[in-house]
Parts: sequence; structure tokens; C-alpha cells
Amino acid sequence: MTDLAARFRALWDEIAPVGRDAGSGGYLRYALTEPELRLRDWYREQARRRGLPVTEDGNGNLFAWWGDPDAGDAVLTGSHFDSVPHGGAYDGPLGIVSAFLAVDELRAAGVAPVRPVAIGAFVEEEGARFGVPCLGSRLLTGALAPERAAALRDTDGIDFATALGHPPAGARPELLDRFRCFVELHVEQGRALADTAAPVAVASAIWPHGRWRFDVTGEGNHAGTTRMADRRDPMLTYAFTVLAANKEARLRGAHATVGRVSVEPNATNAIPSRVTGWLDARAAEPETLAGLVSAVRDKATERARRDGTSLTVTEESATPLVAFDGGLADRLAALLTAPVLPTGAGHDAGVLAAYLPTAMLFVRNPTGVSHSPAESATDEDCAAGVAALARVIEELAC
Ligand code: GLV
Ligand code: MN
Ligand code: MN
Ligand code: MN
Repeated sequence: MTDLAARFRALWDEIAPVGRDAGSGGYLRYALTEPELRLRDWYREQARRRGLPVTEDGNGNLFAWWGDPDAGDAVLTGSHFDSVPHGGAYDGPLGIVSAFLAVDELRAAGVAPVRPVAIGAFVEEEGARFGVPCLGSRLLTGALAPERAAALRDTDGIDFATALGHPPAGARPELLDRFRCFVELHVEQGRALADTAAPVAVASAIWPHGRWRFDVTGEGNHAGTTRMADRRDPMLTYAFTVLAANKEARLRGAHATVGRVSVEPNATNAIPSRVTGWLDARAAEPETLAGLVSAVRDKATERARRDGTSLTVTEESATPLVAFDGGLADRLAALLTAPVLPTGAGHDAGVLAAYLPTAMLFVRNPTGVSHSPAESATDEDCAAGVAALARVIEELAC
């Protein structure tokens, strides 16, 4: 093992147990819950050890500064700590741990930045607790109104403002203005690098994507006594919608997933009164995504009519196509001799890209699996990611 891979492993082991579910081996690190708060404390401690002052933006996003926070023209890096339910270890934390190690590498080499470097930890990137992904970066940029964010509730009924301890501050243009660019390092979430010689890639684009909630209401009734002909069963409408989403996505070369469902009253011997399914839809082009969502909506509406149920569809979040700064991507790809590839996964970098030149680095994932305990990356590849990020910071800030 190289020295850098050993240093990566030593730091990684400090957070590896936090929020890990012994049963699945995956992580339950929901934003602002105990495990994520422990990671935020760990982050503050790492910053303290390195003499990096930490600021908070009033929205739950943290920034550790190498250099003067007020100097401006800063290079921002970092990622998020929160996970999806039973998510992998790397999605998010890899970008933050790598950033601390990249600063260590540069310092050890005697490199001093002429511009400040900030390591960001964004809150609620996954939307696993409050439903809206990239909540922290959307608030910071003003893409989401603070009143709307404050009122978002988790499944226990706790709203975001309460979890945060105060109402979110919302847009912070004067803070955003201090950043010249953002580079987020992230584990690759598909198999694009798995069978190549490249441990690191540069992102070109993020597919447009969003979340739509399908609420289907029918009539709750007894499973044993209600004649089949008399039923108004929302589960049928829901099941049909899932199949329609799959079919419509395949027809278009797009991606559609229904990974979350809630059933009322959720009893084996009762016809449900209500079924809610969440459609996650993504495609390379915005028109394809729009066509996919409207086809699923139309088919579900027609099916609800036949089932005697009623359907409402609510857009919970939408992220337009993100084309990362081409000049910056080409520059980093040349610097690192790395391939350039698009992704279907959302990131805070996708939100910030509308406000400042933004790039992403992906670290090879040999399983190609993500949002699952099977997500992986080798220590050597993570070390390659740290080295790449250090070179990028040196290029942009030094
Ligand atoms: C976030 O990770 C997403 O792409 O859903
Ligand atoms: Mn994720
Ligand atoms: Mn992520
Ligand atoms: Mn993400």
C-alpha cells in the first residue's frame, strides 16, 4: 500500500463506523440526525487540527477555510455527509475526507495557496430526510426559498427549521461571490471506469432529473368481503404506474425508478385507502425527460379512471440539465490525463454550476453500485483521487 493510501485508510477508518447499520452494512446518515451530527463534529475537529477556521452559512452548510475567508476568489471543494437509507460509505464523505487529505498533501509539499481554499460540507444532499435533494446548496444559491425549506417535514413530522435549530437564512450571494470555482470529488456511481485503466475521471454533464409524487386515493375496505368488482383499489393504479414508468423509460433510453412507496393503512387484510409512490426520472435530454414524465402521468391518469381511484401528481424537485464548464473540465482532464464522462446522478455541484464555474472528479467504483451497501472504491484509487484533487487545487489556487 502506498503511503497516501495508508493515510487515506487511517482517516477513513475514523468515520467508517458512524451511522453504519450492522444488519445491511449500509449507512443511515440522515441530515442533522445523530450520526450526521457526529460527522459534522468530526469535520470541525479535523479543521481545528489543521488550523482551518469553520464558518456556517445559516443554512446548515459548513466551510473550513485554508486562507482568509474574507479574501475572496476562493477555490471551493467538498461534498456531503448525509446518505440515502442503507447507502454506501463513499457517496458524499469521500469528497470531504479527500479534501482534508489534499490540503495535507499540499502543505507537506510546501505549496502555499495564493487564494483561499474552502472545504464545504453541504447539508441534506440526498433529500433522504426532507425530500428535496441538494437542499443546502439550493438554499445557499437561492434556488429554493427558505420559507419552503423551513416547512419541509421528515417522516416524524420534524421540520427542517427545527432540525437546523433556526429558520434557514436562504440565499447568500455575498458568500457565493467569494468563490471563484467549485470542484466536487465523488465516487463514480456506475461502471464507466470499472474496466478501464483510469482511477479518476472528470465530469462533463449531469442528466436532467427530478422527483414526482404520485398520490393515489381509493376506498379502504375488507380484503375478504369486498367483491372484486366493487373495489376501488389504489394499489392497482400504483402497480400499473410502476410498470408504465419502466416501459416508457426503456422506450426512450431514459431512467425511471419507483424506489419509495407508502401504503395506508398497510395491512395485509385491507384494501389500501391510499398509495403514494415516488417516481425518480432522468434522461440525457430535457425533452426526453419531459416526454417520459408526461407519458407516465397520462397512463396513470387513464388507469386511475378505470380503477375508480383518484390521482394527483406533484413535482417535488426538478434539476435541469447541467453542462459543467467546458473550459474547466478540459483543463482538468488535460492536467490529470483523465477521461471525461456524463452522469445520471445529482450533486451539489449540479446546483452550484449555475452560479460559478464548477467541475467534478469521479473516483473509480469497481462494483459500479451506489446508493447501496455494495458501493466500493479501493484505497489505492481513493489515494489517486486525493492526489488528483491536490493537483487541481494547486492548479486553481496556488
Ligand atoms: C443523489 O445522489 C441522486 O442523484 O439522487
Ligand atoms: Mn447519492
Ligand atoms: Mn453524493
Ligand atoms: Mn448525489
